[in-house]
Amino acid sequence: HEEFTKVKNIAKIELGRYEIDTWYFSPFPPEYNDSVKLYFCEFCLNFMKRKEQLQRHMRKCDLKHPPGDEIYRNGTLSMFEVDGKKNKVYGQNLCYLAKLFLDHKTLYYDVDLFLFYILCECDDRGCHMVGYFSKEKHSEESYNLACILTLPPYQRKGYGKFLIAFSYELSKKEGKVGTPERPLSDLGLLSYRGYWTRVLLEILKKHKSNISIKELSDMTAIKADDILSTLQSLDLIQYRKGQHAICADPKVLDRHLKAAGRGGLEVDVSKLIWTPYK
Ligand code: COA
Ligand code: NA
Repeated sequence: HEEFTKVKNIAKIELGRYEIDTWYFSPFPPEYNDSVKLYFCEFCLNFMKRKEQLQRHMRKCDLKHPPGDEIYRNGTLSMFEVDGKKNKVYGQNLCYLAKLFLDHKTLYYDVDLFLFYILCECDDRGCHMVGYFSKEKHSEESYNLACILTLPPYQRKGYGKFLIAFSYELSKKEGKVGTPERPLSDLGLLSYRGYWTRVLLEILKKHKSNISIKELSDMTAIKADDILSTLQSLDLIQYRKGQHAICADPKVLDRHLKAAGRGGLEVDVSKLIWTPYK
């Protein structure tokens, strides 16, 4: 019954050096549902009911980073690509973990169909997950992102915008436009709106009004619908003689850019070593 399944079950998790209060229900296997707190291995994401089990596990677990390929490294920041088919248990564990912070997403047991991009902060003890996004291997709807999460201790530091920017860099390499799967959460929409606004308005500032939505889409891999809705919400689209024109008054653009907040951590594409999934 829906109301029953929505009752929050696990109140806290331990992950690496953090204890984190959870936000939502997540459908862990029934034997975990009498626990208030679960203990996660921060590298393989196996979860346990007791601290001693985790301590025993940590003595045996060889992983010091997510499984899969490191496709980006810039200073202490790293991105790993994990194929859900090759690392099924990891993919499922990640979904259980992520659902604790996602309200309305259905959990994908069919992790085979997804790639997971895990963002890590690395130090001498290993690569510590900060957040991630998932992406369908083949999307008919041109989705370039399914779920996105920054773990609560790391939120509001620009990692979310980094993950969003990264998802568009992958789309550019694929030569495709992309859009996030809907519905977006409030925080998800805020982050996307901020990202779209900054990217589009920076280009408009350089090109003045001599640029079309199609050209903006080709340059950014942002889907035309998302460009139009972003510019409309900023009241930058004017209709003249049945056609729309983009307003590029520098003062107006600067005002909106300021309101869109900070740029977040930058993706240095020269450090991305990646070929699209085939
Ligand atoms: N209150 C108000 N605005 C917020 C906010 C909050 N708690 N968290 C994020 N924002 C907005 C701000 O505009 C922020 O930019 P700013 O800091 O320059 O003002 C922008 O979103 C993105 O901030 P950033 O630090 O790059 O994002 P993040 O690392 O905190 O991650 C999410 C953003 C959405 C990934 C994160 O909130 C999250 O994981 N939420 C839970 C899962 C979720 O809802 N995912 C989306 C489902 S589709
Ligand atoms: Na953050």
